[in-house]
Amino acid sequence: MKVNVSLCVLASLFISLSDAAGLTGNWPPLDQPPPPVKEWTALVDQTKVPAAPVVKAADVGTKCPDKDTFCNWSCTGCTRNDTDIVRCPNKGDWGISFDDGPTEFTVGLLDFLLKTNTKVTFFVIGSRVVENPEILQRAVKEGHQIGIHTWSHPALTSQTTEQIIAELKWTEKAIQQAVGLTPKHMRPPFGDYDDRVRGIASQLGYKVVIWDEDTNDWMSADDKTFQLSWIEGNFTEWVKQPATTGHISLEHDLYQQTAARAQLGIPIVQNAGFSIKPVSVCVGDKPYVENVTLDAPAAAAPAAAPAAAPAAAPAAAPAKAAPAPAGKAAPTPAKAAKAAPPPASSPAAYPSSYPYLVGSSSASAAAPSSTSSGYVVSSANSLNNINLWSFVSFIVGSVMFI
Ligand SMILES: *[C@@H]1O[C@H](CO)[C@@H](O)[C@H](O)[C@H]1NC(C)=O
Ligand SMILES: *[C@@H]1O[C@H](CO)[C@@H](O)[C@H](O)[C@H]1NC(C)=O
Ligand SMILES: *[C@@H]1O[C@H](CO)[C@@H](O)[C@H](O)[C@H]1NC(C)=O
Ligand SMILES: *[C@@H]1O[C@H](CO)[C@@H](O)[C@H](O)[C@H]1NC(C)=O
Repeated sequence: MKVNVSLCVLASLFISLSDAAGLTGNWPPLDQPPPPVKEWTALVDQTKVPAAPVVKAADVGTKCPDKDTFCNWSCTGCTRNDTDIVRCPNKGDWGISFDDGPTEFTVGLLDFLLKTNTKVTFFVIGSRVVENPEILQRAVKEGHQIGIHTWSHPALTSQTTEQIIAELKWTEKAIQQAVGLTPKHMRPPFGDYDDRVRGIASQLGYKVVIWDEDTNDWMSADDKTFQLSWIEGNFTEWVKQPATTGHISLEHDLYQQTAARAQLGIPIVQNAGFSIKPVSVCVGDKPYVENVTLDAPAAAAPAAAPAAAPAAAPAAAPAKAAPAPAGKAAPTPAKAAKAAPPPASSPAAYPSSYPYLVGSSSASAAAPSSTSSGYVVSSANSLNNINLWSFVSFIVGSVMFI
């Protein structure tokens, strides 16, 4: 039985929260699982998605089945080398990646990356894109790669297939509207994924990007014993490890103290002789569905190196097996997204145009029709209407599949 919630009820709950130059139309409430959309759900043939059980959020990272049937990263660090991107394949390459932005703290990071001519990958949260589209526009304009990191940052193995699709596609839609690009790479929050998540991502056209080097910098948000100097300490050790491949490292631009840390970590990697590249560049993938090529990175131009930057030799690799998949326990699904900072109050004046704008037609082509899922798309000129339908979307989500 299908229950339709009255559109009038929905419409009355929409409110306009922001007058910033932002995205148009109505968006699901920020940092909560967004409502599934029928057209998007239909993109995935669920009979081909591996039938891994949906797990309780509280069990993620704790209760592991005896046998890792579904290559469950949170349990065993399992990755599938035919589909997952774990590290840059070529020795000497380093994919620096930041998750959870764009935030006001991304701005200082972008300044630093621009100054040092460093291109990285940002896995962005749809809710942050709606808040800070101009920061995303700047990141794209300056040649960084944008990947998808979901709308509300849940542990994906705890979400239904419809919910996972919604998390990815709502974020894709926000990115499309902000910068006219459709990412081909996604990263699961907390690195929590299994074969079901892989199957969904792959049918939607995304490759999963994980990492082989984790700064654990997110811990600094809550854990007062976390020392920020460990981040540089870790980079200093990693660049000295013998390796036959390159690396992909994980940091976060959600927090001021961690976004700022890039200024210390990046010179360590560059001074050790590594070439920092967006992940798509180091693996030789197209970053977007659209015909866009990211610049080949310029030769490492170490600048602003910390006084104590070690002059470690680039990995002089004795034959040694590639490092084991990061088997470190996933962070407990704490409030990464909920702890999000408020949107930047007065965004800097970025150029309002950017090279890869495909245009509103492309963005709206991907939008679901306004009637299919019982939500309303407002006229294009309303600014950044963020609808307050947490309650209603919950009901819609709950009754949709009865
Ligand atoms: C994946 O691992 C988590 C523990 O991290 C466990 O709770 C869950 O049941 C596992 N899922 C599958 C499909 O094996
Ligand atoms: C990928 O994994 C398969 C099966 O686990 C293995 O046979 C193959 O050698 C691996 N390939 C690489 C490049 O590591
Ligand atoms: C690397 O980071 C871990 C925490 O993630 C920390 O315990 C360790 O001391 C760090 N290593 C260095 C050399 O700072
Ligand atoms: C993609 O862009 C490049 C350079 O702008 C152009 O040479 C090429 O023909 C384009 N390819 C397609 C399929 O449009």
